[in-house]
Amino acid sequence: MSITDLSRSLGVEPTSTRVRIRPAVVADAAWLAEVSRASFAPRLRDYLTSAQPGIGRFWEVVLAHPGSFPGRTFLVAETGDGDRLGFADLTLVEPDRAHLSYICVVEAARGRGVAGALLRAYAAGEPQVVAMRLDVFADNVPARVLYDRLGFAAEATSTWWVADLTLDGVTPGADVRLDGLHAARAWFDTYGFGEFAVAVGETTVKLGRPSARVLRCFDPAILTQPAVLAAVVREFPELDRVLVMTPGEDAPPSAVGELRAVNRSLRMSTSRIRARLDVRDPLGPG
Ligand SMILES: CC(C)(COP(=O)(O)OP(=O)(O)OC[C@H]1O[C@@H](n2cnc3c(N)ncnc32)[C@H](O)[C@@H]1OP(=O)(O)O)[C@@H](O)C(=O)NCCC(=O)NCCS
Repeated sequence: MSITDLSRSLGVEPTSTRVRIRPAVVADAAWLAEVSRASFAPRLRDYLTSAQPGIGRFWEVVLAHPGSFPGRTFLVAETGDGDRLGFADLTLVEPDRAHLSYICVVEAARGRGVAGALLRAYAAGEPQVVAMRLDVFADNVPARVLYDRLGFAAEATSTWWVADLTLDGVTPGADVRLDGLHAARAWFDTYGFGEFAVAVGETTVKLGRPSARVLRCFDPAILTQPAVLAAVVREFPELDRVLVMTPGEDAPPSAVGELRAVNRSLRMSTSRIRARLDVRDPLGPG
């Protein structure tokens, strides 16, 4: 698409299409949520917190209180007229390494270097960052092209396994205690997702609810404990599926229903992000 076509599709004059990058503000939160949700395949939305409508309210808090989220940077790309084109969400995980949580460009503006411009602006603002890591869906061709060109290499694969919860006749374990229920309910009511924990004797296992119907098990071993899951479902009867993410491509054992692979994700990283973005340290020589 030419710049002129892009401008027309965005309803702006061609002369005003120069991309500007700025920090996101609270007023961007609803738009961030909308473009984020739209960018995910509908079949995956139930498994992703950032595809829930409430993620906008969640990001509002992040954007309104940056001091409480140190190292997190949300950048927005826009035209000279202020038409938003895309965003990037990054977190400093080590002094010289950033995690790219998400980068997204509106469909009409893709393939014109907006993603590259967002990453270049981030690198310019964080001159100490030389390394970057991210997770990308294995079948996301445009994103993988972008990351390959930026020198990212795959380090590990993980598979997202889903089973329909079939717990008919399973008695909820009497020794199962749910931790953090009030917080989980409040989170869910406000944002549409949340986390809690389940304690069985001395062992505590973290669980998540990325959407109304999905229970994320951070420890796949819980799939072999139907009585524990039955206790969770008694609390949250809307749950009808479990999600586990495990390294590699082999399904973990399950006693709660047959697992199907719904997604494959790659962890990628580079230790030379500046070289590929061609960013010079503004304080350095040359
Ligand atoms: C991935 C995404 C952010 C890329 O944004 P973009 O602004 O279109 O990317 P750029 O224009 O900066 O392109 C970067 C490179 O990728 C290439 N590229 C972009 N889209 C492509 C596509 N559909 N097919 C093949 N290559 C593509 C470009 O040619 C460019 O290479 P070049 O610099 O050598 O020309 C965008 O496609 C998007 O928002 N997708 C939906 C959200 C998403 O999947 N985000 C990634 C999550 S991990």
